[in-house]
Amino acid sequence: MNAPPLLEVSKLRKHFISPRHWFSPAKPPIQAVDGVSFTLARGETLSLVGESGCGKTTTAKSVLRLIEPTSGSVKLDGEELLTLDANQMRLRRRHMQIIFQDPMRP
Ligand SMILES: Nc1ncnc2c1ncn2[C@@H]1O[C@H](COP(=O)(O)OP(=O)(O)O)[C@@H](O)[C@H]1O
Ligand SMILES: [Mg+2]
Repeated sequence: MNAPPLLEVSKLRKHFISPRHWFSPAKPPIQAVDGVSFTLARGETLSLVGESGCGKTTTAKSVLRLIEPTSGSVKLDGEELLTLDANQMRLRRRHMQIIFQDPMRP
């Protein structure tokens, strides 16, 4: 049997809904990440390249659920992360981390 990829992200979406204010019309949601899929094998390095504001940071934060993705699937070692409760997620985070290039501007 083939081992599952270390990380398998499929159809990941994060839409930011801006809060409604009393007198201003509702703004359309920002589709920061809209259907991102990739897999990562153990020991493999993947670069996500794109212009500022294209959704790289939002993708990374969504994978770790540092922000809650709108929809999609994130599997670590074959296990779905997006349906884990807070306590289970806390245990999985021991195996994943972000190293920010510039800690003052994540
Ligand atoms: N917390 C947030 N609330 C609303 N919009 C956000 C938030 N975080 C990021 N965005 C928007 O999502 C888009 C992607 O941002 P980001 O993931 O930071 O891009 P990158 O890291 O590629 O520069 C941008 O339009 C940004 O303004
Ligand atoms: Mg960024």
